[in-house]
Amino acid sequence: MSKTYKIAVLPGDGTGGEVVAEGTKVLDAAAKKFGFKLDLTDFDFGGDRYLKTGEVLPDSAVGDLKQFDAIYLGAIGHPDVKPGILEKGILLRLRFELDQYINLRPVKLYPGVDTPLKDKGPEHIDYVVVRENTGGIYTGTGGISMKGTDQEVAVQSMVYNRFQVERCLRYAFDYTERHGKKAQGKGKANTLGLVGKTNVLTHVFDLWERAFHEVGKADYPDVEREYYHVDATCMWMVKSPEWFDVLVTSNMFGDIITDLGAITQGGMGIAAGGNINPEGVSMFEPIGGSAPKYTGMGIINPLASIVAGAMMLDTLGEYKAAETIENAVMKITDTKIKSLAAGKMGYSTSEVGDMVADIL
Ligand code: IPM
Ligand code: MN
Repeated sequence: MSKTYKIAVLPGDGTGGEVVAEGTKVLDAAAKKFGFKLDLTDFDFGGDRYLKTGEVLPDSAVGDLKQFDAIYLGAIGHPDVKPGILEKGILLRLRFELDQYINLRPVKLYPGVDTPLKDKGPEHIDYVVVRENTGGIYTGTGGISMKGTDQEVAVQSMVYNRFQVERCLRYAFDYTERHGKKAQGKGKANTLGLVGKTNVLTHVFDLWERAFHEVGKADYPDVEREYYHVDATCMWMVKSPEWFDVLVTSNMFGDIITDLGAITQGGMGIAAGGNINPEGVSMFEPIGGSAPKYTGMGIINPLASIVAGAMMLDTLGEYKAAETIENAVMKITDTKIKSLAAGKMGYSTSEVGDMVADIL
């Protein structure tokens, strides 16, 4: 009997629905070809629902979503809703409550895609960022006192415990062992780089650095360990991205460097990410926003969403299907699409989805 995966589909706001439709088109084609089944259920969480009902997420949402094998998300963010409400109330809440403690962000330049980095090609830009996804400054520990006075104090603390740091590091070491440059036949070693700020944030990154070397030495002797300050990492991501294999970092630093990484791989039209709970329900998304000004025009690029779908299949164990989708996307970027930008692809959103599905 073929396997059936239960997938919760959250198109969300703006162009989210358009890109997710192409993603599910490709997922369905992959299911047919590789002999598994997808049982898709739509949820309407997002800005429109909030504006209608005043509710960001119903109380039942988290419990309902826990019944699925994975979540496929479009985009969150609505022009008529104050920034922060939907991001915190949907995206961050799901990450936290589903304990998706890893944000996996490949930074990979596909063939035929333009990068703003001079003299760099696909052979130079091919690494992965493992971002801690549920802790650190994102938990919002702190507050404001004497608000509105000139004595106002605002505190937002970067809090990590050993458990959070260690489980993230272990995921990153495991990932590096299986997917590092050596494992892929692209280099001599599998290397994990810790990105931190041990010269200033001497508490939090001291914990990260000690845990990194202890865990690595004890359990992953074959993975090479490097340490980089986050500011220097930004320079090397531009100047010598080919140095990197797998990087692991805290939530806030990971948020920042993965946007820098995304632009080097061609930007929001292509960058995808996974919010992963290795023991639970994971959620996959294109990392671009809801692009309100392009909504409904059929010109947004669905490739990031399609790649997010491939990451979802990979996490579910459908490795061959995932690889085949990624290869199909690379073929399209290499031979068909002129630009990843909305309206400049030379094809409509659904034509791009059709082309990927046809290759499968
Ligand atoms: C991301 C986004 C989110 C984050 C926002 C929308 C809350 O920027 O996934 O990187 O900061 O994590
Ligand atoms: Mn971000």
